[in-house]
Amino acid sequence: MPILLTGASGFLGRHLVQLLREQGRAFTACYFNHEPSFPAVRLPLSGREAALGQIAALQPTAILHLAAVSSPNWCELYPADSKAINADAPVFLAAYCREARIPYLFASTDLVFDGLHAPYDEGWAPSPICTYGRHKAEAEQGALLAYPETVITRLPLLYGWGGLLLNWVAEMRKGLPVSAFVDEFRTPAYVRDVAAGLLLLLRHNTPGIYHLGGHETYSRYEMGRAIAVAFGLDERLVQPCRQADVPMPAPRPADVSLSSEKAYALGYAPRLLKEALKMINQH
Ligand SMILES: NC(=O)c1ccc[n+]([C@@H]2O[C@H](COP(=O)([O-])OP(=O)(O)OC[C@H]3O[C@@H](n4cnc5c(N)ncnc54)[C@H](OP(=O)(O)O)[C@@H]3O)[C@@H](O)[C@H]2O)c1
Repeated sequence: MPILLTGASGFLGRHLVQLLREQGRAFTACYFNHEPSFPAVRLPLSGREAALGQIAALQPTAILHLAAVSSPNWCELYPADSKAINADAPVFLAAYCREARIPYLFASTDLVFDGLHAPYDEGWAPSPICTYGRHKAEAEQGALLAYPETVITRLPLLYGWGGLLLNWVAEMRKGLPVSAFVDEFRTPAYVRDVAAGLLLLLRHNTPGIYHLGGHETYSRYEMGRAIAVAFGLDERLVQPCRQADVPMPAPRPADVSLSSEKAYALGYAPRLLKEALKMINQH
């Protein structure tokens, strides 16, 4: 019987599908609005009853829940919709897994923190400053209450083909400048390393909260420069800007760097940014 993977059509989900296939694991990939090119089931998660009926029929052996609306600005503008998918769905899935007695892992975010006390380890209480972070923090708390065996992973900014990196490289290859914040700091990680980390934690199935940050803190601007260098592009195309220069619906915390020693000790091994970029450029 298969692992149920929600959000399989998303950035991280697609990389997980690739990894699960390489490992020869049985899984059911689920999407919502964007049907992927690989076999997948449409599973809307905004309506509890319909979703749970569908899941029960699929009889998963574990649920790996990645589906979310991951744009903080969108969540700020549409808080009711954000709550349904980002706060409510993770909790009813947790309750389902408790009833079914199967492992449950769900993806949260470094944006549950306010950005004033980095680096954050798992001992810090969430202190979100935007709706997306608030709903993810509610989901964490609700899921642990509904099913104390839940494995919660707080993910950092992810990069890789199909996400942030591709957009920037494509722009710069056309000679177009990209603007990047000098005053927003994260511990970015290569999306495929994080996918491997999620499967590692699912295998361990030790309940609790795990940070899956990379080893280094970077501003988006520093990341942009590193990407330009790795791809042989003109570094000057990466132009510095400040958060205050760009009006955005959602406030952004200044530094949500994660301390991820707990996951490193279990074998989570994200590559350093420059190492990962070199490898990505060769493929
Ligand atoms: N990417 C990052 O840097 C980052 C950082 C921290 C945490 N995370 C977390 O990691 C997870 C994966 O992120 P991602 O970047 O892969 O996100 P993404 O590319 O935006 O993908 C989101 C996924 O959720 C699905 N989805 C959205 N609304 C849904 C609904 N109502 N019902 C069912 N499925 C729905 C989407 O399906 P369709 O596309 O088919 O509609 C898609 O597969 C999310 O939980 C996100 O919060 C991501």
